[in-house]
Amino acid sequence: MRITMALVLSIIVAIGLVAFGFTYFQISTERRKLVNDLEARAVHISEEILKNDTLHNGKVKAGNMERISDSLKIIYNLSGIAFYFSNDSIVTSNNTREIVTSSISYIVQSIGSGNPMGGMVRSEGKNIYRYIRPVGDEIKPYNAILTLTDGDYIERILSDIWFRNFVRWFIQAFLISLVTVIIIRWGIFNQINKVALWVKALRTGDKEQMSKKPPVKFLAPLHKEIEHIAKAMHEAQANAVEEARLRTSSEAIWTPERLKVEVENLLEKKKMIVVSNREPYMHIHAGKEIRCIVPASGMITAMEPILKACSGLWIAAGTGDADRETVDRHDKLQVPPEEPKYTLKRLWLTKEEEDHFYYGFSNEGLWPLCHIAHTRPVFRINDWNHYRKVNEQFARAVLEETADEEQPFILIQDFHFALLPELIKREKPHAKVAIFWHIPWPNPESFGICPWQREILRGMLGADLIGFHTQYHCNHFLETVSQTLEARVSWEKFSIKMGGQTTIVNPFPISIAFTLKDYDHTSPVIKPADLLSPYGISARHIGIGVDRIDYTKGIVEKFLAIERFLEKNPSYIGKFTFVQVGAPSRTLLKSYSDMVTSVENEAIRINMRFKSKNWKPILLLKRHHSHEEIAPFYTSADFCMVTSLHDGMNLVAKEFIASRSKNDGVLILSRFAGAAGELQGAIIINPYDIERSADAIKLALEMTVEEQGQRMKQMRLIVVRYNIFSWAASLLRTMATINH
Ligand code: G6P
Repeated sequence: MRITMALVLSIIVAIGLVAFGFTYFQISTERRKLVNDLEARAVHISEEILKNDTLHNGKVKAGNMERISDSLKIIYNLSGIAFYFSNDSIVTSNNTREIVTSSISYIVQSIGSGNPMGGMVRSEGKNIYRYIRPVGDEIKPYNAILTLTDGDYIERILSDIWFRNFVRWFIQAFLISLVTVIIIRWGIFNQINKVALWVKALRTGDKEQMSKKPPVKFLAPLHKEIEHIAKAMHEAQANAVEEARLRTSSEAIWTPERLKVEVENLLEKKKMIVVSNREPYMHIHAGKEIRCIVPASGMITAMEPILKACSGLWIAAGTGDADRETVDRHDKLQVPPEEPKYTLKRLWLTKEEEDHFYYGFSNEGLWPLCHIAHTRPVFRINDWNHYRKVNEQFARAVLEETADEEQPFILIQDFHFALLPELIKREKPHAKVAIFWHIPWPNPESFGICPWQREILRGMLGADLIGFHTQYHCNHFLETVSQTLEARVSWEKFSIKMGGQTTIVNPFPISIAFTLKDYDHTSPVIKPADLLSPYGISARHIGIGVDRIDYTKGIVEKFLAIERFLEKNPSYIGKFTFVQVGAPSRTLLKSYSDMVTSVENEAIRINMRFKSKNWKPILLLKRHHSHEEIAPFYTSADFCMVTSLHDGMNLVAKEFIASRSKNDGVLILSRFAGAAGELQGAIIINPYDIERSADAIKLALEMTVEEQGQRMKQMRLIVVRYNIFSWAASLLRTMATINH
């Protein structure tokens, strides 16, 4: 109400001031014009009188005075005439003597200067225009004519103007105020009331009201913002509730200790054996010393914490050049070396076996077969024979280790051991065998190109449980089996029955060791300039990527997106550096060594294009890095970018999230990574779409702290809730409940 009053008053005053100003100006102009008219008229009268030869030898001709006065009075609205003679005689027409007498000094002044004089005077309550016209020769005028014209009508005209303008102002002010009040009340207040109701509904979660969006166009931008705020608020509320719930019922979160107890209960003193090709600790010669490294592998990142928590035995191929020097006579050692928690048993492969089993069938056949990343799989009979042989070798080792055990739990890892489940089960039918496939499973048509697809499927179906990261991969597997083998596929139970064996096929999205303790742990943040200074460059913003150099990781696509980002946003040139940690992998294969070259060449090309003295856009750190070396980049980068062209899960994404204890930073994540299904707070991209990926970088760099916090918090809650301990628990529980 106050605003309306203030607005109306302002309008009235503003219009009033404008009207007054204009009227004042109009009156002045009009007055000047009318007085000028009067003057022109007086001049004219004087000239008429002179033409009529009224003056004669200093006297007025007899009878002329009245005649002239009468005739001019009618034509010019004349009030009176007077003649002044230098011999001090004055002849006046009727009723003008008084004014003429008071004008003597002006007459004398006018005669003295030889110039006419005119002006308005007041006499007997009237406005009179008095005009004095000296008459005589040019050297010395001695007579004067005085004309008096009625000027009252000027004031009447001017009052009229004042009045009309006042009425106009009043009507205008009234109408405009009225319209304003109507617009404010119905057009604005009403709409704002509707918006307020809607905002209240958003706040209180009243779904019915929420669906009634106020239909005002001019408030549309506001709606959007309010919707964002409401969404953020609800998510924050949900996060807070979830967080509070997690904290009050901490048993909801899996920890190593809790998993240990769970495993003890489930296993009932039975052995747990993990089998993989890649070993969790590899010993290598470094000069005269022997170094122990953790190979770059998502599978190891995931499995190692489980073994640490629950002990057990891990059987893997020993591939480090100092591996033989560090095992006991049973080819075993206790790991982790600094604080032993479980046993690692190494099996030795010959060079030929490694070439054909590992490089050949596993990495040139199955790897590209399962990853749709446009690298052709190669299938060689020799590779396949060695694949079978090595699977048999590992089966023997497992059987040896479990000779005294009827029902051990065997967790087989990955595509290197597709045949192992059947080989083990054949000898030990009561063993609980699971195989987890860490990479994607393609559609049946793609898988169908493998010449040994039946053997592979039969081998896998020896397991009691087959795990994939996503439901999508499970579906593909079931379809592949139903199109390839004579087996009973149940889509209700997600199981397959073949011969006497039933296999459950379930998704278990793998994760990392991230507990509530880690959740609350804050790691130091290092400034980008300090992180980069050892490399002789400096930048204000950092992006981070951590990948094995593999054609499935989309590293070249990532670099192209960075190049495009700089093209589109030149203001970031000199200010933004992308750090790509790239561990060379499987480099004996041409497709991999070519990939290393491509990645290097792209980085060089883009750097040459943009670099300056102390800056370059891409810092490629091409070597194996430990987790401790990578951690500062994770905690300090503005964003992490994962551009896999196809990936089972991608644990780099989850490691980055786990490291952001301040709930800041942005994850850019490929939609073709399994993690995209869980990490909805990421900016999801198609890495083949360079344009959008470039835009995602800009979005990440310019995202508000609030939005970063909201997204990151949500993702951190997911990762802590579904950590690797919960993964292991649900996998082992499922295994334990299978009873055939
Ligand atoms: C993927 C596979 C793992 C493998 C890792 C590294 O993550 O799922 O089984 O260990 O790549 O590959 P590499 O051949 O070096 O073991």
